Amino acid sequence: MRTVKKVVILISGRGSNMRALIDACAEEDYPAEIVKVISNRPEAPGLEIAAKAGLPAIVIDHKAYPSREAFESDLHQAIVEADADLICNAGFMRLLTATFVEKWRDRQLNIHPSLLPAFKGLHTHERALEAGVRISGCTVHFVRTDMDSGPIIAQAAVEVLADDTPDRLAARILKAEHRLYPMALRMVASSEVRVVGDRVVPAPGCVEPDFSRCGAAPLFSPPPPPPDGG
Ligand code: GRF
Repeated sequence: MRTVKKVVILISGRGSNMRALIDACAEEDYPAEIVKVISNRPEAPGLEIAAKAGLPAIVIDHKAYPSREAFESDLHQAIVEADADLICNAGFMRLLTATFVEKWRDRQLNIHPSLLPAFKGLHTHERALEAGVRISGCTVHFVRTDMDSGPIIAQAAVEVLADDTPDRLAARILKAEHRLYPMALRMVASSEVRVVGDRVVPAPGCVEPDFSRCGAAPLFSPPPPPPDGG
């Protein structure tokens, strides 16, 4: 088995989570490398970030295809050509069909700015504030066909403040996303975790993920190991 996993990142826009993954992959002992960035939108600002980082970045514009299937066929081909082990969706705003999702089952990650299964879909932060939750956050999960669903790899909780606006809450959660996604990809790429049923559990022989590198707050999940004797 390869020790450094090859990753293709899918984006549609700004690309700040992609940048966090690029930075993580530059660390000496990080178990993943980015082999290609694919945007379904030609105007995505993230494309420039990828190019500046010296990564092969291409556009597969979904609007140029007559059907979802035709778009996904080329997308799949481009990922296979990159010899990818894993896909990271990072602000990729396109629903994928069951055919594509099953081809990459347990090898495709997504990040969503809420504590799933709460607030799937768009306008997450507005809805969290309307619902009056005191805690929101972000989730990295394996992709399944239903939108924003699938086995949860890691979560980070973020406090909702009394004077929060959707933008303020989004900005604080985004900071947590940038810590969480590299941590979650590390866990998957180093085979520290595996999927059993609908849950992500530590792989046999793996005790607990190493939180020391991500400066994890107590509300990061999975939780840190109990203190000795605990
Ligand atoms: C992030 O909030 C991510 O959780 C969501 O879309 C946003 C993308 O931001 N899926 P960026 O493109 O990574 O900056």
